[in-house]
Amino acid sequence: MNTALSTPIACEPIRPTRVVPSLSEDVARGLFGAPRTLPPKYFYDERGSLLFDRICDVPEYYPTRTESALLQRIAREVIETARPERIVELGSGTSRKTRHLFDACAELECHPTYAPVDVCDEVLVASGEALSGDYPWLDVRPLVGDYTAGLGNLPRRATRNLVVFLGGTIGNFTREQATDFLRELRAMLAPGDTLLLGADRVKQPDVLHAAYNDDAGLTAEFNLNLLRVLNRELGADFDLDAFEHYALFNPLESRIEMHLIAMRDQTVTFEGLHDSLHLREGENILTEISRKFTRAQLESMLEDAGLRVVRHYEADAHKFSLVLAEPD
Ligand code: AVJ
Repeated sequence: MNTALSTPIACEPIRPTRVVPSLSEDVARGLFGAPRTLPPKYFYDERGSLLFDRICDVPEYYPTRTESALLQRIAREVIETARPERIVELGSGTSRKTRHLFDACAELECHPTYAPVDVCDEVLVASGEALSGDYPWLDVRPLVGDYTAGLGNLPRRATRNLVVFLGGTIGNFTREQATDFLRELRAMLAPGDTLLLGADRVKQPDVLHAAYNDDAGLTAEFNLNLLRVLNRELGADFDLDAFEHYALFNPLESRIEMHLIAMRDQTVTFEGLHDSLHLREGENILTEISRKFTRAQLESMLEDAGLRVVRHYEADAHKFSLVLAEPD
């Protein structure tokens, strides 16, 4: 029976398996330390999420478009290979790209349940309702929580889970963080389960540079939004006009680095924090790394985590990878 339209979608909270630092702890450690840095997850308040959606539509930002087209091309084969009874998506957002998988499911009459995992309750409910409308057979069971706080308490399902982690977000992790995360992912997979991982590839520096320095200035807005989040959440008084977006490709680390550069000497105060932050003109805050992989690096990273590569799909000109893997 299809009750999708009559039953409201409820989010089940995921209990963390470990304590993750709060925003104020991350600020105390990251902003007051050297080098100055903050985790990129704080970009994504409602405004930041909307800005990211708009970045995906600027001509210079190729990853989303490229990954989506690749996923559309391979979706049938992925579903035929994985034959999922459940699709679990980490960082599902609006589930825009995942629709290619559901389209393939519909064609192949494979009807898995869908468990999107995200930090934002409102987005999960809205997206879940839209999906249920468009795919009446789809049983959407959103899970709300921070996947960096551990995957051990995700509700289990015995057989044939397809876990998807798209967007190239794995690139936001350092090498150590990525390996830890993939090992944890590996630990939640049982024989017969599969992982579909999206990752951005190394390419000409000018193409990478343009993708993080769009002419419309949306990436700059997105980067500066982090300071708005701090102003609102921590009662800080960052002057957004006193900072500039600065993104570069670091070929030695094979990663984009996004920084906020202080345009003048300044002092920032935080409500309830007695230390003020003193920044010198030209000082930077590292707000995001976005690593770009070679095919071989990606595969060895997966293998190091105990995952065997089943298929490695590449977009045209090797711009982006989608890797299907299974526990070895
Ligand atoms: C969503 C994390 C994959 O690293 O390219 C876009 C975020 N940052 N523009 C990326 C982002 C600047 C994006 N990820």
